[in-house]
Amino acid sequence: MKVLVVGNGGREHALAWKLLQSPQVEQCFCTPGNGGTALLEGCENLPYAVDDFANIAEFVQKNNIDLVVVGPEAPLAKGITDYLQRYNIKVFGPTQAGAQIESSKSWAKKLMAGAGIAIAQGETFNNADAAKAYIAQQGAPIVVKADTLAAGKGVIVAQTIQEAQAAVDELMETGFSSIVVEECLQGEEVSILALTDGKTVRPLLPAQDHKRIGEGDTGLNTGGMGAYAPAPIATPDLLERVQTEILEPTVSALRQQGIDYCGVLYAGLMVTAEGDPKVLEYNCRFGDPETQAVLPLLETSLDELLMACIEGRLEAFPPLQWYEGSAVCVVAASEGYPGNYEKGNVITGIKEAEKLGATVFQAGTQLQGDRLLTDGGRVLGVTSRGKDFNTAIETVYSCMEAINFPGQYYRRDIGHRVR
Ligand code: AMP
Ligand code: GLY
Repeated sequence: MKVLVVGNGGREHALAWKLLQSPQVEQCFCTPGNGGTALLEGCENLPYAVDDFANIAEFVQKNNIDLVVVGPEAPLAKGITDYLQRYNIKVFGPTQAGAQIESSKSWAKKLMAGAGIAIAQGETFNNADAAKAYIAQQGAPIVVKADTLAAGKGVIVAQTIQEAQAAVDELMETGFSSIVVEECLQGEEVSILALTDGKTVRPLLPAQDHKRIGEGDTGLNTGGMGAYAPAPIATPDLLERVQTEILEPTVSALRQQGIDYCGVLYAGLMVTAEGDPKVLEYNCRFGDPETQAVLPLLETSLDELLMACIEGRLEAFPPLQWYEGSAVCVVAASEGYPGNYEKGNVITGIKEAEKLGATVFQAGTQLQGDRLLTDGGRVLGVTSRGKDFNTAIETVYSCMEAINFPGQYYRRDIGHRVR
């Protein structure tokens, strides 16, 4: 079969890499892709932007593509699935209505509250003064969020009332007219990426990511500086509760709204000091970089699993098979990220790192002739598997030594919670 992956990050490289491991997948396209998907054997990049639905649909039809897998949230929120489904194209990823679970925090909160799911208590505001009054009444710490998609820049965990109130003004001035203010949950975060066909829901291995730029989980928030799986904090008991108290009620609530949700339900959870899982937020797609740590552990063919979701056959699908051990992904970023950074620097050493035992997923890269150049903030996701976390972490860092580009920055403490 032929597949098309929409997107250009490390997540999309990992999806294409895993799909191509299946004997049934003979060809993969990625649009617009990156240097990694350009170099991946069996994969070819296309020139269409992720929101160029018309050209994507035309290509899929002309080339008899059997499956489209959508990586990022933006095209899902814009309705890529609805558009392609009109041409009877098989798409893995929710419709625009389903993607609201990520694109509208207030909508998602209402859905979850209605289903009795544990979430952070809060309110939605369209007026700065009302939001500030609520903040003053609730006290700090408190969390202020843009209601709509904000590319990772819409959440402020404020330690003081003043900081929270300033965040309200800043978000409103940036153009976010609707704002969620909610209770600040304490505990440890875990990412559960679950696949659903709209009726049955199956979690992948639990993962954790490191959102902050600096070692010791300090400094500015980023898209994610590293990830690992399976996260030991998600014990079998906890996963059972997540399944019955969070994932299944979410799928039922979506169905009650008339939404046949096919895709990833990515639950960002806080495990509280009491050991209770609460939903911080839902995403409507695979996590990045969690996917780079989770997919190398998946033995089951991804194309078969995604097709079972699209065709509503997930209940009858055999239990997912996983490789033994642990996986760790360390992100190599451009100096300055998540602020301004240079592009166009030459990357070397990927082949050497792979010889040493890493799988190198590329994110912000571009192939120019035979030169691989940096083209984004997060450049590479270097991943290793090992019999345990210590082994995987040692391997990944020895592989990192082989890779080089001007301004390369990476955290040396990825996985510190599980060592
Ligand atoms: P997001 O970019 O929307 O995934 O959220 C970014 C991060 O903000 C989350 O991963 C949490 O670390 C933090 N966060 C969001 N909501 C809360 C909350 N209610 N309490 C504490 N931290 C939160
Ligand atoms: N790793 C965080 C995200 O994918 O949103």
